[in-house]
Amino acid sequence: MNDDRYDRIRAVQWQGEHLRLLDQRLLPGEERWIDCADASHITLAIKDLAVRGAPAIGIAAAWGVALAAKQGEPLDEVLATLRAARPTAVNLMWALDRMKKRIAAGADADALVREAQAIQDEDLAANRHMGELGASLIASGSGVLTHCNTGSLATAGYGTALGVIRAGVAAGRIDRVYAGETRPWQQGARLTMWELVRDGIPAQLIADSAAAHLMKSGAVQWVIVGADRIAANGDTANKIGTYQLAIAAKYHGVKFMVVAPSSTVDMATGTGEEIEIELRDPAELLGTAGKRTVVEGAQAWNPVFDVAPAELIDAIVTERGVIERPNSLAMQAMFGC
Ligand code: MRU
Repeated sequence: MNDDRYDRIRAVQWQGEHLRLLDQRLLPGEERWIDCADASHITLAIKDLAVRGAPAIGIAAAWGVALAAKQGEPLDEVLATLRAARPTAVNLMWALDRMKKRIAAGADADALVREAQAIQDEDLAANRHMGELGASLIASGSGVLTHCNTGSLATAGYGTALGVIRAGVAAGRIDRVYAGETRPWQQGARLTMWELVRDGIPAQLIADSAAAHLMKSGAVQWVIVGADRIAANGDTANKIGTYQLAIAAKYHGVKFMVVAPSSTVDMATGTGEEIEIELRDPAELLGTAGKRTVVEGAQAWNPVFDVAPAELIDAIVTERGVIERPNSLAMQAMFGC
């Protein structure tokens, strides 16, 4: 295991005959590992958010295909089932397409294991590189606000937006870190704060509804978020609440940075309008930690992602480089068609 103080967590671990996942539904109260013995178990873990975060679900799905190949399962069915697990994060489809290409080229189970390992290793390397690129945009003494969880738990390790925050803190550029709680599933409160406390990075949790007030106070110079899918014009789908943060940031003159590997870029999707937004069980909103908190009989609408339009984004950071003030031309120049 890496002994870098800012890179100690590996939530997705291939064990040779099964996939081990740190169960994100139980954090921070309990650090329980689940062993997925087959692809259907991995599909369920993705659907139920035991593993979550765009890059992490792509990596877990790739391991699902490799595991299925080892067990002689029908790979077309496995690919289709994994693909349908969640609709918004394109990393899932990207990883499965990559595995499918290897299958079509005649790869055996061992070669598919190597491909899944490559997907995981490349994600970690991308995160380390994006951390440096993103941190270099931040002036010394800055405060930052992040949303959801984009750290080691959501990736192969280190994180995307949280990777930039790790690198920025290590470089002495970031003095203040704020994390929004990220209702309803509380990725910020439960997971980002867990990672930051483990790293010894001082940070303050805020209620999602405190974000505009925080920006007005002058305490933050950047909002830094991850992404689930970046369209060809730079529109970015990310955890619900990201759009309102982008609007509030623009109003207050706070800069807005999106950090994601190129596996999150979907040049086949023209604009954010075309991105399917996952709707989850209203029960996630009607209760907390499995306990109903809203009156019986009440209903809820629970979209779990939204789209920040490109015009509200100051920088998109990928491992290929930084696009400032993204638009279709700049996206095409970096990612092709
Ligand atoms: O529903 P989740 O927890 O999977 O949503 C995660 C996010 O929205 C993250 O911000 C995004 O996947 C980037 S993770 C590096």
